[in-house]
Amino acid sequence: MAVFEIVKYPNKILRKKTKIVKAITSDTKKLIRDMIETMKKNNGIGLAANQVGIPLRILVISSKDKNKKNNDIALINPVIEKKSGKIYEEEGCLSFPGIYLKIKRANYVKVKAVNDRGKIITIEADGLISRALQHEIDHLDGKTFLERLPLIKRLKTIREIKRRIKSGTW
Ligand code: CO
Repeated sequence: MAVFEIVKYPNKILRKKTKIVKAITSDTKKLIRDMIETMKKNNGIGLAANQVGIPLRILVISSKDKNKKNNDIALINPVIEKKSGKIYEEEGCLSFPGIYLKIKRANYVKVKAVNDRGKIITIEADGLISRALQHEIDHLDGKTFLERLPLIKRLKTIREIKRRIKSGTW
């Protein structure tokens, strides 16, 4: 297994829509294993393939099952089928180290995807997992959480990031 380097803002790959996965090969499975490894290493709860420089529609999420056991899942070609409710919570992003922003998201989502065995799966979630799914699917659509901010707050955050880049703390 390998740990990828995380692509940070303002790398252009984060702004490009990822490509649909047409076939699940051994390379796809290896990519997923390495993405999970990278997510864990960085203490993330979600990671999109373009965040490790691969422009494919794949995300991984770290969740706990009913017995509080770690349950890392990969979603290939995920699509939000249903969402409802609104909730503001703070979130972070591995591509924006040290930046935490209050973002409005749907409270509940239903996501349809293909798993790493090629089976169609549906996930319904609220709370943290719902938020992580929406955040990662945004990544796959070429959007970061900056685009979810009101303009003034977005400009302020970009200024702060530029300051950190300049001072070498990014
Ligand atoms: Co992110």
